[in-house]
Amino acid sequence: MKPYVKVVEVGPRDGLQNEKQLVPAATKIELIQRLADAGLPVVEATSFVSPKWVPQMADADEVLAGIRRKAGVSYPVLVPNVQGLERAFAAGVEEIAVFTAASSAFTQKNINATVEESLARLAPVIEQALAKNVKVRAYVSTALGCPYQGDVPVSEVVRVTKALVDQGVYEISLGDTIGVGTPKKAREMLRACADAVGMDKLAAHFHDTRGQALANVLACLEEGVRVVDASVSGLGGCPYANGASGNLATEDLIYMLHGMGFETGVNLDALVDTAVWMSGQLDRLPASKLARVKR
Ligand code: HMG
Ligand code: MG
Repeated sequence: MKPYVKVVEVGPRDGLQNEKQLVPAATKIELIQRLADAGLPVVEATSFVSPKWVPQMADADEVLAGIRRKAGVSYPVLVPNVQGLERAFAAGVEEIAVFTAASSAFTQKNINATVEESLARLAPVIEQALAKNVKVRAYVSTALGCPYQGDVPVSEVVRVTKALVDQGVYEISLGDTIGVGTPKKAREMLRACADAVGMDKLAAHFHDTRGQALANVLACLEEGVRVVDASVSGLGGCPYANGASGNLATEDLIYMLHGMGFETGVNLDALVDTAVWMSGQLDRLPASKLARVKR
């Protein structure tokens, strides 16, 4: 049996949250359904953050309530606070993702709180979600560097990761928010976190700002990670991290994983069609190498 890598598709959320043109809810819903139909086991659907901070995600309620859910597929949504959790509950959420970072310089800009304040703010979110049998994933941003602080000590990434695991989240996605990492650094950071919480609790979330994402993922796969986040067509960027480009493109990741003998459950042709379709909706070329070859 081939070894399995779980690919977490974050395009509808991470990919679109920074998009300047307003994408209609119906297009987002179609994107999510196409991605699930292409075989992605997890499709992060949207984000229940403040619409004052991220206007593109103001339709989260409509999007989550509007998707036709496929059996066996998870549709987590980003939740920053109890207010967001209540909106997500009302839209029928089954899984959430909370988020903070390893540097307060970043969290101050992204969520208007220090790291410590954010952990305290997230505690009731995690507790109330788990009480309703809603699964909780978490992100630790700036795991390989911060746009405001620069270097981030690995010890801080480990500390925040451990704090979130202690609060009951089942998986931590380690985010290179601005794509500054390189493979050696990614490997060392991952290994330190795995020593603290176990590799089975970790996921890799790399933005491709400096063209390092696929190399970083390869280093992390060699280290033993088996959950990787990616964004269809390489869409995206964080609105509170200047210059952050999209995540690693899902189709480029899947191409590499299949070539290495990993099973993903994803139909690459259907995924590339979706990448080309979505780029057309945004009136631009796909950012991925593969979709450009096949277009
Ligand atoms: P704040 O301004 O400190 O909070 O924002 P507040 O409680 O004072 O609320 C301000 C206003 O927003 C109020 O409205 C609230 O009701 C409303 P007003 O009274 O002025 O009319 N509000 C909300 N409305 C709807 N849903 C909510 C909600 N919360 C407050 N949930 C807050 C604090 C955390 C809310 C804000 O900073 C925020 O929403 N930030 C989110 C920023 C964001 O989404 N960033 C991108 C996601 S993170 C990312 O991309 C990184 C990741 O991909 C990993 C990686 O790459 O590293 C995950
Ligand atoms: Mg991200």
